[in-house]
Amino acid sequence: MKALDNLRETMRRDRVFDFMLDKHAPAMPGTRAVIEGVVDTTHGPILYLEGVNVAFDGFKAINDLNLYINDGELRCIIGPNGAGKTTMMDIITGKTRPDSGTVFFGQTMDLTRMSEYEIAAAGIGRKFQKPTIFPEHTVFQNLELALQADKRVWPSLFFKLSGEQKDKIDQALEIINLQAERDLRASQLSHGQKQWLEIGMLVVQNPRVLLVDEPIAGMTHQETERTAELLTSLAGKHSVVVVEHDMEFIRSIARTVTVLHEGHVLAEGSMDEVQNDPRVVSVYLGE
Ligand SMILES: Nc1ncnc2c1ncn2[C@@H]1O[C@H](COP(=O)(O)OP(=O)(O)OP(=O)(O)O)[C@@H](O)[C@H]1O
Ligand SMILES: [Mg+2]
Repeated sequence: MKALDNLRETMRRDRVFDFMLDKHAPAMPGTRAVIEGVVDTTHGPILYLEGVNVAFDGFKAINDLNLYINDGELRCIIGPNGAGKTTMMDIITGKTRPDSGTVFFGQTMDLTRMSEYEIAAAGIGRKFQKPTIFPEHTVFQNLELALQADKRVWPSLFFKLSGEQKDKIDQALEIINLQAERDLRASQLSHGQKQWLEIGMLVVQNPRVLLVDEPIAGMTHQETERTAELLTSLAGKHSVVVVEHDMEFIRSIARTVTVLHEGHVLAEGSMDEVQNDPRVVSVYLGE
């Protein structure tokens, strides 16, 4: 019981879960969309960015960006440092507001009019480079906390895991390959395992879209291979957008690759197509 109380205390303390305490949450449009399961992709992509512009102090970080992500696809985004890849994710998640342009989730949700909280609640999950896990809690408890943060089971501060929810956590443990570590404290995991745990914490919330920025930074070769399998296995059920510099890794998972350069799409296609594109070659070789 003490452990459970501690968990609840952590949830109250930690800003990640602040929104659970927000009485107004169920009335927010994003939340309602999730509760009703409405992400309308019948006539188009799941993510739709068109003519998007963002300038920071006059510098155009995003310049007439057009990007269309299909439901269930695995999209890789590459591009040199400063190309606008992270800024693009900031725009999708509501962290950065575009100066102009259209950003839609499905047909009906205008992401430029939704808060970061609403966007997350609507089903767009983002994995940060520094995992937001609870080091003192076990792997299982971390997944449990993430599940409780799922707006579809709101309000859930004092809920008990149902059989279905336990199954969901077990499935996530299998997906992220941490079954043997379920009762280990998160702090005891390897760097790579921590990254997978965070992905698991997103997965239990059933996001429609998962945004992953530089997932293999600092990973061993084996962890990198495992991460490639993990992300590939998530596609289909989720749309997965991966930003990464490591070309060998990208090649191992790539279907469609988008090359960003100076805030704009320079090329798009299969890995072979973009690698042989003279514009891409020139950007990467700095000619
Ligand atoms: N909040 C901000 N304020 C000012 N400039 C910013 C801000 N965020 C990003 N920039 C600038 O916008 C440009 C694009 O940055 P961004 O981080 O999106 O690039 P990136 O493609 O993710 O690069 P990297 O591969 O190095 O991660 C950079 O020149 C960066 O310095
Ligand atoms: Mg970046």
